[in-house]
Amino acid sequence: MALQAINPTQTQAWNQLQKHFEEMKKQSIKGLFAENPARAEQFHIQWDDFLVDYSKNAVTKETLNHLLALADEVHLKAAIEAYFGGSLINQTENRAVLHTALRNPESATVLVDGKNVMPEIFAVKNKIKNFTHEVISGARKGFSGKAFTDIVNIGIGGSDLGPAMVVEALQFYKNHLNVHFVSNVDGDHVQEVIKKINPETTLFVIVSKTFTTQETLSNSETIRAWFLQSAQPEDVAKHFVAVSTNIQKVTEFGIHADNIFPMWDWVGGRFSLWSAVGLSIALAVGFDHFDQLLSGAHQMDEHFKTTSFDQNIPVVLALLSIWYNNFYGAESEALIPYTQYLQKLAPYLQQGIMESNGKSIGRDGNPVNYQTGTIIWGEPGTNSQHAFFQLIHQGTKLIPTDFIGFVHSLHGDQDHHDKLMSNFFAQTEALLNGKTEVQVQAEFDKQGMDAAKAAYLLPFKVFSGDRPTNTLLIQKLTPAALGKLIALYEHKIFVQGIIWNIFSYDQWGVELGKQLANTILDEIVNDTAISHDNSTAMLLKFYKTHRK
Ligand code: F6P
Repeated sequence: MALQAINPTQTQAWNQLQKHFEEMKKQSIKGLFAENPARAEQFHIQWDDFLVDYSKNAVTKETLNHLLALADEVHLKAAIEAYFGGSLINQTENRAVLHTALRNPESATVLVDGKNVMPEIFAVKNKIKNFTHEVISGARKGFSGKAFTDIVNIGIGGSDLGPAMVVEALQFYKNHLNVHFVSNVDGDHVQEVIKKINPETTLFVIVSKTFTTQETLSNSETIRAWFLQSAQPEDVAKHFVAVSTNIQKVTEFGIHADNIFPMWDWVGGRFSLWSAVGLSIALAVGFDHFDQLLSGAHQMDEHFKTTSFDQNIPVVLALLSIWYNNFYGAESEALIPYTQYLQKLAPYLQQGIMESNGKSIGRDGNPVNYQTGTIIWGEPGTNSQHAFFQLIHQGTKLIPTDFIGFVHSLHGDQDHHDKLMSNFFAQTEALLNGKTEVQVQAEFDKQGMDAAKAAYLLPFKVFSGDRPTNTLLIQKLTPAALGKLIALYEHKIFVQGIIWNIFSYDQWGVELGKQLANTILDEIVNDTAISHDNSTAMLLKFYKTHRK
């Protein structure tokens, strides 16, 4: 079933939302709390080990009802069925979008072109399981008979960000293997990694869905050439494995057929960490933890598929985001995890969210006449409090922010954790309530500040508050909880794409730059003549004159 093309701004619900917004824009969030002492009880969802409090938002029951009506009018329920059922919802590439199948139990049936793909998925999972066990246990050895100590994941975009984020996030569960990531075509990146490894004890995992990506192929060739300075060509088979859909190209690179971990065109790069793209994750934390990550994601899939929309975490978070993006004109959203382990979550979700929903053509082929994809950014708390929080608290922009925190720390240092979490709670409270003139003046009076100085300083010290936040309070950063969290944001992306009437699973926008870079490379290296705009021509001339 193809996704329907419905311009959301033409729906009745949108019309209602627009009228409702005229009222709501005068309404403060603080005021909503003052009016309703039971607000938090009514605007939160408790599910499994997640407590999602969305009460600190500029919404009432009426707002939610209109947003839920919008979801119904764009036929979100049918779209979810099409998504999980393997319909070709990545229409411009004529592909299904089935990363969810990768975390299904073996007993499930998912048909692609009439064939159940679950047996293939589990064959690859078993291959990952056996391979990771051999490497971690030391049974699999390098060319000089030594066990592996280091893994280098060579990939970019979805073939790097997901594994890199999860390996960092699950560091607590890590084994003895050191895992490195090489992504940038900047040669300094690969050289810095090479400095840290020994060819005798390093396993290279080349990850590229297409196996045509310039960065990944260049880095792989550089590493292979460096490796061959110490080893023989036949040793490549012992040290290089690949994850790809392009078996022919992988074989041409010299990788042994036994060392290829296949993936499928129905797994998008930015949603691929659940496939063999997650091999580095399984190597770093062991297959069982990798499997728990997948099980957690599956639990979130079930929650998303089966829960009524008003209690459905991805749906509610997606609707709130649409409310701010399309009615309040918010351009960006911040994501602040209160754990250092999730320091790569925002960069990971930047690809997930912005590559998916950074689109301006509707599913009917016409330009959209409303805002789509949000800009996403963030860093862990408390570091971010000492960096950019000033702008969230007192700047001129509205930045809805997700706070993600955990009830239990992993190392169990209660003193540190209580300090961390007191900041976590304090920030959303401060963003909601701000600080009034009366409160600031009372502080001045207490300090005995003279009247002139107090009058001068007062406006700078007032915080308006009313800055919206969601709080995601999770029991503990386990592999399963992380799987749920990632899947939550994946489904939020899906819901927003459906409502915005765009195709979330292609990425044509990254192609132009790639094509141009290839032509410019030819011009730099072979001195081919190409016409450019005046600025690019001047810059290239300067670079060509000085590069050697
Ligand atoms: O940046 C565009 C992109 O196609 C991403 O979507 C993808 O994750 C990345 O390049 C890497 O592609 P590949 O896995 O084919 O090397």
